[in-house]
Amino acid sequence: MEIITTVSGLREAVRAAKEQGKTVGLVPTMGALHAGHISLVERARRECDFVVVSVFVNPTQFNNQNDLVTYPRTVEADCELLSEAGVDVAFVPSVEEVYPEPDTRVFELGSVAEVMEGAMRPGHFNGVAQVVSKLFDFAQPDRAYFGEKDYQQIAVIRAMADIIGFKGEIVPCEIVREVDGLAMSSRNVRLSAEQRNAAPEIHQALLAAADMVKAGLDLESVHDIVVDEINSNPLMEVEYFDIVDAKTLQPVKNMADAPDGAIGCITVWLGDVRLIDNIKFSL
Ligand code: PAF
Repeated sequence: MEIITTVSGLREAVRAAKEQGKTVGLVPTMGALHAGHISLVERARRECDFVVVSVFVNPTQFNNQNDLVTYPRTVEADCELLSEAGVDVAFVPSVEEVYPEPDTRVFELGSVAEVMEGAMRPGHFNGVAQVVSKLFDFAQPDRAYFGEKDYQQIAVIRAMADIIGFKGEIVPCEIVREVDGLAMSSRNVRLSAEQRNAAPEIHQALLAAADMVKAGLDLESVHDIVVDEINSNPLMEVEYFDIVDAKTLQPVKNMADAPDGAIGCITVWLGDVRLIDNIKFSL
C-alpha cells in the first residue's frame, strides 16, 4: 500500500491506475478506523480494481470545536489496518493540502440537508459537501462507499453529486454493529465503561420500534415510547428521534405517507459523546 499525502501524488496514482484500465473505488473516512470502515473497504475491493481510502479529519464539517479537538486520531494504526485490508492507496493529507485556501463554496443541498443533523449542526453538511466534492475531484472514483449509519449524509452527498455532475456511483453500505448491537463509530472509544454498557439500549429501542411499527402502532406513539425508554436511563438523553421518509427525509405521520419506506433516525447524548443510529421501518 502506498501512503500518499499530496493531491498531486494522488492524482498521479489514480491516473496510472486508470491508464491500466482499472476501476477506482474511494472510501472517504476521518480515520480512527474500525470494523465498520473495513467492511466498506472490503466491499470496495470486491467491486473495484484500485482502492483509495482517505483518512482526513475535515475541519469544515465540525460545528463544535470540542468535537473537532477530541475527535480520535490514530493515523499509524489506521494505515496498518488499511494495508492489511489490501488497500492500494491511503490518502492522508494535511488540512493545508486539502484547503490551500479557505473553501467558501455554499452548496444548495435542498430539503434533505435541512432536517435532523442539518438542523442540529448548522454548516455540517456544507462542510461534508466541500470535502467530499474535493475528494471526488482528486480521486475521480468510479464508485464511492459510505456507511448507512450516517443515513442522511448519503442523501446529502447524492445532492452534492448532482450539483457537481459526479458521474460515479454512490454506494450505501449497511451499518456494522458490535455483538451487543451498538453501531460501530469512531466516537465509541470516548464512552466510559458505564456509558458503553448503556449504549446498546439505543439499538434495542430501535428494534422494539420496528416491531411496534409492524404491529401497526401509530408512529407518534412509537416515537414517544422510544424516547421515554432511552431517556429513562440517566446516562442517556435523546437529542432527536425522527421518523422520516427514506428518500425525502421529511417527517412522516403514517407509514402510508412513506411510499419509499420510513426510517427512524436517532441521536443520543451520553455525557459529551453524541451517538447516532437509525433503523428502517416496514409494515
Ligand atoms: O462520514 C465521515 O466519516 C465523513 O463525514 C466523511 C464522509 C469522511 C467526510 O469527511
